Amino acid sequence: MRIAVAGTGYVGLVTGVCLASKEHEVTCVDIDEKKINLMSQGISPIYEPGLSELMRDSKDNITFTTDYKAAYSGADVIFIGVGTPEKKDGSANLSYVYKVAEQIAESLEKDCVIVIKSTVPIGTNDKIEQFIKAKLKRHVNVYIASNPEFLAQGSAVRDTLHASRIIIGVEEPQAAEILQDVYKDFDSPKMVTNRRSAEMIKYASNDFLALKISYVNEIANLCELVGADIEDVTMGMGYDSRIGTKFLNAGIGYGGSCFPKDTKALSWLATFNDNELKTIRAAIDVNESQKFKLVKKAKKYYDDFSGLTVAILGLTFKPGTDDLREAPSLVNIPILLEDGANIKAWDPVGVENYKKIYPTEIEYCETISQAITGADLCFIFTEWPEVKNMDVRDFETFMKRPIVLDGRNCFKLEQFRNVHIIYDSIGRTRVDYLYI
Ligand SMILES: NC(=O)c1ccc[n+]([C@@H]2O[C@H](COP(=O)([O-])OP(=O)(O)OC[C@H]3O[C@@H](n4cnc5c(N)ncnc54)[C@H](O)[C@@H]3O)[C@@H](O)[C@H]2O)c1
Repeated sequence: MRIAVAGTGYVGLVTGVCLASKEHEVTCVDIDEKKINLMSQGISPIYEPGLSELMRDSKDNITFTTDYKAAYSGADVIFIGVGTPEKKDGSANLSYVYKVAEQIAESLEKDCVIVIKSTVPIGTNDKIEQFIKAKLKRHVNVYIASNPEFLAQGSAVRDTLHASRIIIGVEEPQAAEILQDVYKDFDSPKMVTNRRSAEMIKYASNDFLALKISYVNEIANLCELVGADIEDVTMGMGYDSRIGTKFLNAGIGYGGSCFPKDTKALSWLATFNDNELKTIRAAIDVNESQKFKLVKKAKKYYDDFSGLTVAILGLTFKPGTDDLREAPSLVNIPILLEDGANIKAWDPVGVENYKKIYPTEIEYCETISQAITGADLCFIFTEWPEVKNMDVRDFETFMKRPIVLDGRNCFKLEQFRNVHIIYDSIGRTRVDYLYI
């Protein structure tokens, strides 16, 4: 099938490459010429495990262009995967989606299924249908389908090739048939529903996961106060199959391009419909304060950070991605810099993106040991495997004062029993050799 994909971000590029790997003829469109040039040379502009390899293996079935007319005019199916970032009031900014819709309407020369993969508020598919039909330049049939994306960054290729589910939201059976055909070689369960339900499935799923994280973080905060251990608590909870163990890791809050904006967008939509979502509002509030948890902990050890050398392990919002959107490091590092700390940071893939924000203010280090050398304090913001697998004795060997604040519970408390390190994590007893 001839498929065009609008937008080559984490969703669009991964979707395009995975569809090409299933023998579809795919054209990926973006407005960013630099990205298109890179991809045309076989280079992925984003870091995602397995993506470069699959791009290489599928290169005969995929092309990249800024020429949207050429891509859209003869396509059987067009996927829209552009961003829907948060506006100041929390609602979703749909201007990129509408721009693509306009470009599609002016380009189409044959019947086409237009699939909205971007996360959009309930009712958007209906509005886009009216918008495109009003702007069509030729007499062609268009069907609009909602096909929300559930991939997680860091495992996006696997999540697309073996998705937990493929949701097909349609109003006409023809559109469902064509999408079933697009996905015929994907081994995931497929569910057909109407467009508004499909749009809601996406928000309700993401917001439920955000709720789970904020809930466990609040329980973790209480564990610290009452002497319980959050790791044991969540393990004990997880034996109940109604609860399960997944997504119950305490930490310094969720980040990334989805949970923060999708919780706010649904909350905004509910308020707009005069129906406040109290649980989601609470999840947002808890997450906002949780991001500051490590800086607050650090104040137990230092009144201010002026002149201190602070090591940062992990800059991205989670491991497996170079994405910094809403990363907790971006909330904490400005506070440390403002206070006069000297920051030495390590991250395996996030540094190039960080340099765009802080080109000179931070010393970027090649290795974890370089970053912690001479440090008065170490913050762990991302649970990279390199951090989880390091020898904790390195903190004692390399740091000036081995105080480790772990926002992701990367280590077991036992690992700190026979070392001279203060280890302060989330929802667990602080290990402090001074008191042992
Ligand atoms: N990132 C995720 O993990 C994830 C997961 C599920 C769903 N989503 C949703 O998918 C959508 C896309 O997210 P993303 O993270 O891939 O976005 P992104 O910001 O990484 O990429 C968007 C891309 O669209 C391009 N673009 C903008 N206008 C364009 C136009 N007119 N034509 C062609 N390209 C254009 C941009 O240049 C950019 O490359 C969002 O709605 C998001 O909520 C994201």
